[in-house]
Amino acid sequence: MMWRYLGRRPMSTLATDWWHNVGIAPKDPILSITEAFFADSSPNKINLGVGAYRDDEGKPVVLQCVRDAEAKITGCEFLESLSRQGNVKLVEESAKLAYGENSDVVKEGRFAGVQALSGTGACRLFAEFQRRFRPESQIYLPSPTWSNHHNIWRDARVPSRTYHYYDPESKGLHFGALMDDVKNAPDHSFFLLHPCAHNPTGVDPTEEQWREISHQFKVKSSQII
Ligand SMILES: Cc1ncc(COP(=O)(O)O)c(C=O)c1O
Repeated sequence: MMWRYLGRRPMSTLATDWWHNVGIAPKDPILSITEAFFADSSPNKINLGVGAYRDDEGKPVVLQCVRDAEAKITGCEFLESLSRQGNVKLVEESAKLAYGENSDVVKEGRFAGVQALSGTGACRLFAEFQRRFRPESQIYLPSPTWSNHHNIWRDARVPSRTYHYYDPESKGLHFGALMDDVKNAPDHSFFLLHPCAHNPTGVDPTEEQWREISHQFKVKSSQII
């Protein structure tokens, strides 16, 4: 998006006036690992700061299914504006992927979704939705979480809290404390869960633990009047 100033002052003065209040955003600590990686002259260096696969030459590993999908999209007819929901087929297929094609949720159509622009866009859209339709509610984020989650809900003016997640002693999941936080959260709270490959710890609940977490959410929801 570009803005054009229609006043009479020269551009240079104007630009200084306009931007002097805009500070430099704080750095994402994870990205500083990549900066340190590029600055390091060691021939044996490995960048572990980016959560993406690399081949033996340090190049991104692109799965064949992604290449196939890319080829299909390239061959598609050009789409003009989509509906406000985005691409409905994409939303439906995503729900099947998330819940399972044969799940009750999908078979009974008990889900709602919209296409969003990336993970960041999805979080922001949900935060806006939350503020508009549940303005008294708060979001619970795992401790720790991807640092931008805090910024996204703060910018959407939704209060956030954290729930126990990583236990530095066991270097694993703080499961008991996590369950207590879910049990004790005020009604109508929202929890942000990382379905897999938790960022930044890499610690995920086991399938059994997911079942218990899911059960506890259902118990809590059934108690809300
Ligand atoms: C947990 C989590 N949420 C959201 C995002 C943002 O996703 P995107 O890069 O698609 O905006 C990331 C990206 O690393 C993430 O790890």
